[in-house]
Amino acid sequence: MSDLDITEIRRQFPILSREVDGKPLIYLDNAATAQTPQSVVDCIDNVYHSCKANVHRGVHTLSQEATDLMEQTREKVRALINAESTDEIIFTRGTTEAINLVASSFSDTFFHGDDIIVTVMEHHSNIVPWQLVQRHKRVILHVIPMNPKGELMLDEFNDMFTDNTRLLSICQVSNVLGTVNPVKEMIKIAHSHGVPVLIDGAQAVPHSHIDVRDLDADFYAFSAHKMYGPSGVGVLYGKRRFLEMMPPYQGGGEMIGHVSFEKTTFADLPFKFEAGTPDFVGIAAFGKAIDFVNSIGIDNIAAHEHDLLVAATDGLMKIPGMRIFGNSPSKGAVISFLVGDIHHYDMGMLLDKLGVAVRTGHHCAQPLMTAMGVEGTVRASFAVYNTFEEVQAFVDAVSRVSQMF
Ligand code: ALA
Repeated sequence: MSDLDITEIRRQFPILSREVDGKPLIYLDNAATAQTPQSVVDCIDNVYHSCKANVHRGVHTLSQEATDLMEQTREKVRALINAESTDEIIFTRGTTEAINLVASSFSDTFFHGDDIIVTVMEHHSNIVPWQLVQRHKRVILHVIPMNPKGELMLDEFNDMFTDNTRLLSICQVSNVLGTVNPVKEMIKIAHSHGVPVLIDGAQAVPHSHIDVRDLDADFYAFSAHKMYGPSGVGVLYGKRRFLEMMPPYQGGGEMIGHVSFEKTTFADLPFKFEAGTPDFVGIAAFGKAIDFVNSIGIDNIAAHEHDLLVAATDGLMKIPGMRIFGNSPSKGAVISFLVGDIHHYDMGMLLDKLGVAVRTGHHCAQPLMTAMGVEGTVRASFAVYNTFEEVQAFVDAVSRVSQMF
């Protein structure tokens, strides 16, 4: 068991003290979005109160201060994932926009008949952007299957590469199954075929140490709001040589070198990909979320969440009719389940009445639901501020609801 002082950590999250329907809130929807500590909220407040000004544009003090805050976060992100340079850190609205950026821009190098490899456990945000590319180019999606434990079938994966494979685009951690995919090994295999790799790290960065250079990832996408930061901010990391050859994703202010009606030149990295006024308030506050994570230590967070996962799994498995989806030993702090033939929505609604917030439905992974033969699941997901008492209360609540049917 970890030595973290969870009571002290919880004190930093006022929202965790609220009630729902007269019951203490037990927030177990962290894979959808995690709560924000007071330091993040204070930072947002502070920027609005003291230095709200457009960034990278003004010579005046407020603009300079706002720009400094934004660029400090870029450096914190660089350090967080061990990128070589802040030029490789592009701010986006979230993981979804980061993947759309690559799909829109990197696909310039694709030809009709090219292949992209994804996994059966992708979030829609790593499926639909590639289907949008299909409007212009007949690219073909190939899907890595999984075994009954919810692990990718690597033998099949090895055989999927052809001369036309242009990209491997996969999640590091499944938002439904919690499976932690062996992405380092998979990147190595893809590179041995000369294929670049995009990693959707939305469910990985908040829970584990990520080193994009050690992974040798070519692109890596994640969101601030799942790691205790504000909504509306995400990151695309890209290796410089790819980002330099890619055309801009959107056009507008900020991303230009010089504009005339005849011709426009583009700004250097990273600004070439940051058209328009960015969410500089959110980006500044994201820096505080990274400070929060660093103050606890990502390995301590991972250890605590793993203990919560084990306790929750042990407790749930005692409930008659329990089916847990995703049973890899290499699993993040996410549990998807169904009990007997109780509809996931009914379970979620009744848990809410008991103060327990979980997500229900297809979790933006309908092809995965199809592969599992279900319409949806109930999903509980943990963060560093969750306690063993909450896990017990959650298990008791699931048991109670199960007995109502
Ligand atoms: N991608 C988020 C989830 O899994 C929204 O809930």
